Amino acid sequence: MIPPARYRKLIIHTLTGDFRSSTTVTEEAWRDPLPGQIVVRNRFAGCNAIFDKNLCRNSIRYLTVQPPFDMGIEAVGEVVACGEGVTQWRPGDAVATSRLGSGYREYQIAEAARAIRIREPSPQILALIPTGISGMVGLERIGEVRPGDTVAVSAAAGGLGHLVVQLAKLAGCHVIGITSTDEKAELLRELGVDRPINHRRENLREVLTKEYPRGIDVAYDSAGGEIFDAFVDHLAHRGRLVISGHTSDFDKEVELIAQPRVYRKLYWKSASLRAFQNQAFPEFFAEAAERILDLYYRGRLRVLVDPTPFNGLERTADAVEHLLSGRNRGKVVVAI
Ligand SMILES: NC(=O)c1ccc[n+]([C@@H]2O[C@H](COP(=O)([O-])OP(=O)(O)OC[C@H]3O[C@@H](n4cnc5c(N)ncnc54)[C@H](OP(=O)(O)O)[C@@H]3O)[C@@H](O)[C@H]2O)c1
Repeated sequence: MIPPARYRKLIIHTLTGDFRSSTTVTEEAWRDPLPGQIVVRNRFAGCNAIFDKNLCRNSIRYLTVQPPFDMGIEAVGEVVACGEGVTQWRPGDAVATSRLGSGYREYQIAEAARAIRIREPSPQILALIPTGISGMVGLERIGEVRPGDTVAVSAAAGGLGHLVVQLAKLAGCHVIGITSTDEKAELLRELGVDRPINHRRENLREVLTKEYPRGIDVAYDSAGGEIFDAFVDHLAHRGRLVISGHTSDFDKEVELIAQPRVYRKLYWKSASLRAFQNQAFPEFFAEAAERILDLYYRGRLRVLVDPTPFNGLERTADAVEHLLSGRNRGKVVVAI
């Protein structure tokens, strides 16, 4: 392959708080890989709209965004060049990567040892790496899920949620999936969810009180707001609530609510709230990646990629807004 002199990538140029006006497509000069590095031609990048928008607001607590700032995390593509000493990769190999700044761009330089071997650079892989890995680690290591548990998952038809519900079913659990439309509820049933709940049509608290009087053993929540409140109040004895995001209000003013102090709700049940952010648990990543890919390749996991096409880096803002609108079903992907 003859390397291009320059290639395109998406950056934050100004921190406006809004993805579309903060970002632009710009060019980067080609650089040959250093020893131990590979160059990857990205074919698809995964959309993490909430994280992406938080970057544009400089509100990710563990990093400071200073424009120009390279955007995008997970990507799949092919190796096009290998640095000295790289023996495990060859040009043409299919590869997945997950590193901040490596996603929304035509080419990236990756550390050979951290790249993940895949069979083909398909959009489905982007649902698994790293989102599915987060679901797996959050459910197993943080939620400590056990066979027979009753597990409730919010935003259950989303990129993260649709994998969490299936992993919980594979772990032998009874699964409640919360979503916002009848169409998504039907999709959840097809994925094996025992009790889909359209929270806009049914009252979540009433359903949990009536149908699950023993409570929920593991709640996996990325919605926040009133869904989170309902989960806290319906945890079973020794129940665990995994806080994996708060999509419903992540870009809103902090809401102050009058409630009994949280230990009043948890102590007598020995229940716990456990926050989980994948970057804090790197030690589980490689093993979970191997296991979730194996489940997928053996046909044990159905991977949903949202059918709306976003072709080209210029469509990234459309992809972000599509996910933020809540209309997506499964992982939102940008083709590059
Ligand atoms: N902890 C971690 O390590 C980790 C890793 C990956 C992602 N996350 C977080 O997990 C969440 C899901 O990410 P994703 O990329 O997979 O997005 P997603 O779930 O595919 O999309 C967001 C979904 O949230 C639901 N939603 C939107 N507005 C809502 C509201 N006001 N109230 C309740 N639900 C609402 C909608 O689903 P319904 O229509 O089904 O309600 C929507 O489809 C995000 O908050 C993300 O930051 C965390």
